[in-house]
Amino acid sequence: MRSEESSRSTSDLSPATARAPGKVILAGEHFVVLGAPAVAMAIDLYSQVQVIPKNGSGVSITADIPLRFLAGKSGNPLVPHPGELLRPLQLKRVVNIDHGLWVNVECEIPVAAGLGSSASTTVAIISAIARSKGIELSKKKIFELAFVPENFLHGKPSGVDQATCIYGSMIQFSRPSNVKTIRPKKDPVLLVCDTGIHHTTRTLVGGVVQKSKREKKDFQNYLAKVREISGRVAKSLREGDDEELGILMNQNHELLRKIGVSHPKLDHLVEVARRAGALGAKLTGAGGGGCVVVLNPSRIVRDRVARVLRREGGTPYKISMDTSGVESRPA
Ligand code: PMV
Repeated sequence: MRSEESSRSTSDLSPATARAPGKVILAGEHFVVLGAPAVAMAIDLYSQVQVIPKNGSGVSITADIPLRFLAGKSGNPLVPHPGELLRPLQLKRVVNIDHGLWVNVECEIPVAAGLGSSASTTVAIISAIARSKGIELSKKKIFELAFVPENFLHGKPSGVDQATCIYGSMIQFSRPSNVKTIRPKKDPVLLVCDTGIHHTTRTLVGGVVQKSKREKKDFQNYLAKVREISGRVAKSLREGDDEELGILMNQNHELLRKIGVSHPKLDHLVEVARRAGALGAKLTGAGGGGCVVVLNPSRIVRDRVARVLRREGGTPYKISMDTSGVESRPA
């Protein structure tokens, strides 16, 4: 395996694969863009990428991405072709590709639902292409490179999504230079539930940033609260204190409602989950639709909550923590 720098000009490509997990944010989304810490967990829903050299030049992409999650009311996908979704990844700028490549993406993460599908796909593609050139990128380097497509897609993201997909497990993220691993005492019994309503992170984040400029005083208070919530969430995970974690998730959801990024369907699913026995529930990711994340006291309760949420029109996924982060290897 060559180092990152020494092999940049190589034209030898070989088949390679990479896999990266999706993520949930347990505390601090949106406020992390404004400087507060977020707590996020990598989940066992993955983007899998295969890279195969081909004759000639140019990159061709095939993608099995669950675009049905993007279908509007008419049933017409908002994005006409999977390749369209990958065009903004600007692969040429990320890794200097001078030969023909076929990139095949299989993504099991619902798209535009707050579960990090774009970060996961981006990170897996970068790792697989580098690996195909015989380069094993450091996690730090993948993190830096992933900002190119992430900025293109989302405006000015904090970096929490790609950090979680790269490092795996659980992290407390304040800014790119301040990422701490959290070692939870036990795996929280979580599920996410998709409303089926989908959002653009860029618009939602832009709206919150504008609001924070107009409502400075309120946002100072919110940011102080989120700093406290994120710190306590990290502590409750380390101590395995699920009761406390659930209370904090509920408080975080209220703050997200206050800044206007929730949606009546998210609020409804949160309410239903709590009534069905969950310890806590909140929207996760950018909001405006997308998913709720629900903490359950046991697997039995989780099964019941999942059934109830499905009856209410949501799509539940029982999730566990991914501990590997991004992985790549020769195919
Ligand atoms: O794109 P999503 O829905 O996974 O949300 C990302 C998290 C935000 O805090 C809303 C944005 C960011 O850049 O941190």
